[in-house]
Amino acid sequence: MSYSQNLIDYYYPVARLQDLDAATVAGKPLAAVLLGKPLVIYKIRGEVVVADDRCPHRGEMLSAGAVSEAGLQCPYHGLQFAHLGACARIPAHPQVQNLRRFDLHSYQTVESNGLLWTSLGAGTFYDLGPERETESQRLVVAPPVNVNASAGRQVEGFMDISHLPFVHRTTFNECTTEIMPAYKVESVEGGFSFEYTSSLGNYPLGHSSPKDFMWRRACRIHFHFIAILDIYFPDGLFTIFNCASPVSEEQCVWFYPIRFDKSLSLGSDEEVNAFSEKVQRDDLAVVERQRPRYVDLTSDSEQSFGADAASVAYRKMLRTLGLCKV
Ligand code: FES
Ligand SMILES: [Fe+2]
Repeated sequence: MSYSQNLIDYYYPVARLQDLDAATVAGKPLAAVLLGKPLVIYKIRGEVVVADDRCPHRGEMLSAGAVSEAGLQCPYHGLQFAHLGACARIPAHPQVQNLRRFDLHSYQTVESNGLLWTSLGAGTFYDLGPERETESQRLVVAPPVNVNASAGRQVEGFMDISHLPFVHRTTFNECTTEIMPAYKVESVEGGFSFEYTSSLGNYPLGHSSPKDFMWRRACRIHFHFIAILDIYFPDGLFTIFNCASPVSEEQCVWFYPIRFDKSLSLGSDEEVNAFSEKVQRDDLAVVERQRPRYVDLTSDSEQSFGADAASVAYRKMLRTLGLCKV
C-alpha cells in the first residue's frame, strides 16, 4: 500500500479555528494539503466545508476564490459552492437546474483543541478534548509550522527525552542534566504512554523552579501523529497537543495547541506563543537536518539506547499499523 493509502482513514488537523474565523471575516477560504491532496476550507453560515481545491468546471484553484454568505465562489467563471460543497449557481446559466455534476467532493470534519480536523477516508475521531477554551483552562494555539521532514520524524522528536539538554539548553532554565531516568512504556487505546520525573525545567531561561522541584512529564501517543504531553508545573497542569499533519512522505505541518490551568501565570497568549515558537525553532533545526527525512521502518541503520524506549515503541506501533516509511 502507498503512504497515502496507509494513512487515509485517520483524522489530521488542517487549520487553526482562529485562522478560519479570520479568513471568513475577510471573505477568503483557506488552503491546505493533506496526504498530497490540495484542499479548500471555507465556512458558510457557521458550517465548515473541507473539499477538493479544484473547480469541477475548468480546474481553477478554489482557494483563490472568495467567500460570502452564499458560500465559496470560483474566481474563473463564478460558480458558487454552498453546504457540503454542493454547487448552488452557475452565473452564466442561472436557469440550469441540475447542478450535481458540479458538486465538490467534501470531507468530514471535527473541531477540537482550537483546530479543524478532517479525514480523507473513513476515519473515526479519537476525542482529544473540547473545541476551545474551558472555564478552568486556557487554550493557546501557536501558528502552524511547515516542516521539511515527515510527520513521523517530527512526532518521534517530540517524544524524545534525551535531546532536551542539547537542543533546548539555551531555551529552558535548568536544562543541563544529561543523564536520563529509566521509564516504562505502557499500551493504551490507540497507542501507548510513558512518564518520567526529572530536574529538567520547563520555565524559560532565567526563571527558576522552586527549590528541589522535580518535573513530572506524562506523554500519550495516539495513532500515528498525535503526541499529548502533560507537564506538571509547580502551580498546575500544562498540556501540549503535538500534532503533525502529513503532507507527503517528506513534509508535514506541525500544529501545537497548548491547554493549561488558569492558575499558571505564563503571561499573554502572545508571550506563550513566543516561547512555544522558540522551542519549536530549536526542534525544527534538528528535524530538518535528519536523513532520511522520514522514519525508515525497513532498515536498522539507526541504533537506539535506553532513553529511546518511547521511540522504539513508536516504531513498533507504526510497523504494526503496516507502515514502512513514516
Ligand atoms: S473554472 Fe471554476 S467556474 Fe470555471
Ligand atoms: Fe524538543
